[in-house]
Amino acid sequence: MSPPMTPTSRRSFLGGAAGAGVVASAWPAMAAPSPGGAIAPRARALLPGSRVAAFENGRELDAARLEVEGAFPADLKGVFHRNGPAMFERGDVRYRHWFDGDGFVQRWRIENGGVRYRSRFIQTSKFRTEAAAGAFLFPVSGGGVAASPSAAFSGADSANPSNTSIVAVGAESWALWEGGSAMRIDPESLDTLGLVRLGGEIDGAPFSAHPRRGEDGRMWNIGSLGQRVLLYRLDAAGALESFKVQPLGQEGYVHDFLLTARSLVVVQCSTETRGPRSLESGTFGTIRGVPDKPMRVHVFDRETFDLVRQAELPSGFAFHFGNAWEEGNGTIHFDVVHYVDGDQMLEFFKPLSGQFPTWQGVSHRVTLPPAGAPRFERMHARAEFPKINPRFDARRHRYVYATGFEERDREDWFDAVIKIDLDEGRNGVFSYGPDWMVEEHVFVPRPGGIREDDGWVVGTALNWARGQTALTVFDAARPDVGPLARAWLDQAMPLGLHGDFRSS
Ligand SMILES: [Fe+2]
Repeated sequence: MSPPMTPTSRRSFLGGAAGAGVVASAWPAMAAPSPGGAIAPRARALLPGSRVAAFENGRELDAARLEVEGAFPADLKGVFHRNGPAMFERGDVRYRHWFDGDGFVQRWRIENGGVRYRSRFIQTSKFRTEAAAGAFLFPVSGGGVAASPSAAFSGADSANPSNTSIVAVGAESWALWEGGSAMRIDPESLDTLGLVRLGGEIDGAPFSAHPRRGEDGRMWNIGSLGQRVLLYRLDAAGALESFKVQPLGQEGYVHDFLLTARSLVVVQCSTETRGPRSLESGTFGTIRGVPDKPMRVHVFDRETFDLVRQAELPSGFAFHFGNAWEEGNGTIHFDVVHYVDGDQMLEFFKPLSGQFPTWQGVSHRVTLPPAGAPRFERMHARAEFPKINPRFDARRHRYVYATGFEERDREDWFDAVIKIDLDEGRNGVFSYGPDWMVEEHVFVPRPGGIREDDGWVVGTALNWARGQTALTVFDAARPDVGPLARAWLDQAMPLGLHGDFRSS
């Protein structure tokens, strides 16, 4: 979740120039240095209790054998990775927006009934430069930090924090942002291997944190560029096969997208860029909801990238989608976590200044017929981070797993894992309890399993009362009956964003 481009840069990106100059021009106005400009005052988080740990700097750690409760399934073997922003303070400066922290990967290896842990900051050029200086030098999307005269810009990747997600690509993992290139990571050592180079003028272009796989292993992705979208298709090993820039006809934030067996679906939020970006607002402070503006759906052919059709959904905002599938007649079905309030980007200024965001996303099922108005049906209130069985990617799916709330009035952070049954409307909920802050949980298919819910739900959560982070495994058929196993780290780590399970 990173900076959309400024209007100026949107116009200039891929506008005819080639090579590094193109990428440099894609970098938003935050690149404009204001030497000696104001520095954000240090604002300590004032979250209640020890929940402060949720948004403190991460710590690099190795732990050989974690304390385990219950028993890990014998056939659940592999590595759970989570990436997320986790360097929020250097010297006297604290970032303002959660999405600005530098990328930090945690690795939980499950094998022989035990769990080994490692965490490392991603060694981006930004991170290494700032670590050496002991100070933040690059301006970020949440504002508050002026460009240092010693911070050299050569495009978006100069300040790429690689902080949003992590996915397995061949023998490597890729850490993803959305404003620039993916970063190659060694899945075991977590060593940073270098930026992914797709070739030519595409290097450094926006590349979303949510690539999607087709049934043949090929990978699709988008890059959001104001009134345009970049469409990518990569082979299973991560080499670029096809690329196209398509106009969208309007601006509107895009974080995630959907893939069916035939189509690529891009949904724009009901947002506009309001006011100039300033040191005070950052880019995130200018992304504002427009209450009467519908969310706009663009359907592209996934092979040619030609526009197939467009549609409108109710006004609002969406970060994440679960999955999409398409009928023979072109009817597309997908699910989305929809926020009525389009000012969602402002919510994530709160965690770093001692408040909690208000999680008001509602899971909806959308039916998009070949012609006529879409159907938009409410499935579950206050959900986020929807995930499905990856074997059902781009195919008809029935179940969505998400974080959510058991306690109706709880306002700080997710306390539950939810299994949403799109067909029956019956949702199973497991509540972690009042002491927990629950992060995204992913689906791991059981080897040889056929049923869609045959597998495990795996994720991490922070127990703020104990000051410890833990990995928990559930039976995906019945997460509501409680965990099968849990492994405790002996300390708390900051809350992350997206995770990935690599089976071994
Ligand atoms: Fe995301």
